[in-house]
Amino acid sequence: MAQDPSKPDRLGPPRADGAPWRNFYGRRRGKQLRTGQIAHLDTTLPDLAVPNVGWDENPQRRPLDLHALFGRRAPLHLEIGFGGGEHLLARAAGEPQTDFIGCEPFVNGVAMLLPKLATQGSGNVRLHPGDARDLLDVLPAGSLSRCYLLYPDPWPKKKHHRRRFVSAETLTPLARALQSGAELRVATDIPDYVRHSLEAVAAQDAFEWTAQTPADWRDPWPDWTRTRYEAKALRQGRSPHYLRFRRL
Ligand SMILES: C[S@@+](CC[C@H](N)C(=O)[O-])C[C@H]1O[C@@H](n2cnc3c(N)ncnc32)[C@H](O)[C@@H]1O
Repeated sequence: MAQDPSKPDRLGPPRADGAPWRNFYGRRRGKQLRTGQIAHLDTTLPDLAVPNVGWDENPQRRPLDLHALFGRRAPLHLEIGFGGGEHLLARAAGEPQTDFIGCEPFVNGVAMLLPKLATQGSGNVRLHPGDARDLLDVLPAGSLSRCYLLYPDPWPKKKHHRRRFVSAETLTPLARALQSGAELRVATDIPDYVRHSLEAVAAQDAFEWTAQTPADWRDPWPDWTRTRYEAKALRQGRSPHYLRFRRL
């Protein structure tokens, strides 16, 4: 359901005039949040939220100062649509020398992750609790060494394929933000999303698919952590596919 711009919520204010119209068809909120989760949204999130992503705060779309954001210079990985945050949390703990930005517009997912981050420690994690397309606008060129897109919403009906996250609209700014040699990792349980991704990425001329053998897309990556959505897909009998693309 599209966000009603007249209803600001905990994810931030509605868009400023002049911002491009971007349809968002996912869910912004689900079941009622627990008191503790609301407290984390009010207290933990402001410390972790990436500033200057919104059009109100940054109408000129100036590139982010990542050094100031993390207080150091380190490789940066982006996870788009982290859901409950299982993968982001595990990667951030497993790679303390890497910085991570997680994007998720579904407030219940953000609320699920925050208490865990508060317990684990969050020095190398920042969050954009909103649309990844807004963040891509302001990421400096060549700033990312990896991007994860894990189980993007499948939009199985043909008439809805244009809603899929993998599209020219997102791959172009993503290619700009990824440095040469960086990886875009896409996991999906939908064979048609594999076809769709391979076609969309091939049309970009900015990436190469790295698979050499079927095991390269059937087997998870060495540092893989199962997400909530993957667990559901497996329970329902669908098979994961793991695609790795190298930025040329
Ligand atoms: C099918 S869920 C998968 C969640 C998680 N990656 C997992 O594997 O459990 C897709 C997620 O992408 C998020 N999403 C959809 N559009 C997005 C966008 N434009 N920017 C960032 N996240 C988005 C949704 O809110 C949702 O949480």
